[in-house]
Amino acid sequence: MSELNLTDTILNIDALEGILAIPDLSVDLVIADPPYGLGKDYGNDSDKKGSSEFLRWTEKWLSLVIPKIKPTGSLYIFTTWRYSPEIFVFLKSRMFMVNEIIWDRKVPSMGGSTRKYSSVHDTIGFFTKTKDYYFDLDAVRIPYNEETKKARSRSIFLGKKWLEIGYNPKDVWSVSRLHRIHSERENHPTQKPLEIIERMIRASCPENGLVLDPFAGSGTTIAACLLNNRHYIAFEVNRRYYDIILQRIERIHNGSYDVTPLAKRGNNGSRKTKASRDNGQLSLL
Ligand SMILES: C[S@@+](CC[C@H](N)C(=O)[O-])C[C@H]1O[C@@H](n2cnc3c(N)ncnc32)[C@H](O)[C@@H]1O
Repeated sequence: MSELNLTDTILNIDALEGILAIPDLSVDLVIADPPYGLGKDYGNDSDKKGSSEFLRWTEKWLSLVIPKIKPTGSLYIFTTWRYSPEIFVFLKSRMFMVNEIIWDRKVPSMGGSTRKYSSVHDTIGFFTKTKDYYFDLDAVRIPYNEETKKARSRSIFLGKKWLEIGYNPKDVWSVSRLHRIHSERENHPTQKPLEIIERMIRASCPENGLVLDPFAGSGTTIAACLLNNRHYIAFEVNRRYYDIILQRIERIHNGSYDVTPLAKRGNNGSRKTKASRDNGQLSLL
């Protein structure tokens, strides 16, 4: 594919084809949530590769994506403990590693593995093109509640900026995975919570900047871009998920999308739930 202006476009194609059409050094932020190499069913064989084939494929698309990122740009990659060591070593040879973020999916305790500890987190690598990267901490600070502010009333705390505008998120993000009761839930097996993607976008992409999501799934990155005034380019190979994305975008455009953007929720969760669903499930979150 020759170079094209794909800004604010979602294409139903293989990411490895689409990435080639993006001009070099044009992307502020890549949010990559690829198949994890764990055999998930995405309606195709994309997650059914053996270890070495999976790692070869990962290195291939990463090598295509990295040149597209601006010198001030960043990349977040979702992975798991199984492959994060190899992927991070590869990325560290080409980019600057800023953080390893643990997404604690808040999985309820219900039995689980008997020959090992139950795995309840995703590993997210945060890499930048150079050390001179864009990062807007104030956009993702977590406000203190009034009670905590009152408890910090001693003179040493008076006038402290962090007390007024909130603290910076730590590298363990405890955000419940999505359940049917959550109003943002779409019909996709590994949909990510908006809260996580919005945080990445608000911290690592300037307003009106460009975000690339090569593996769009249900379109969470696109929704987060639309809710936070960022542009996007996205690819999704599965036609069914692509249609879900189009419907999701349509609901955002026509005002019927029932989700409050992170900026208005105050950066600390409290996601909307569908009122009519079984309350019992809430206790599992
Ligand atoms: C982990 S899911 C992404 C979920 C997404 N972040 C969300 O919140 O909905 C990975 C997605 O990549 C898609 N995919 C797999 N191989 C692909 C490829 N070569 N090009 C584009 N999309 C691909 C799968 O169909 C799947 O929907």
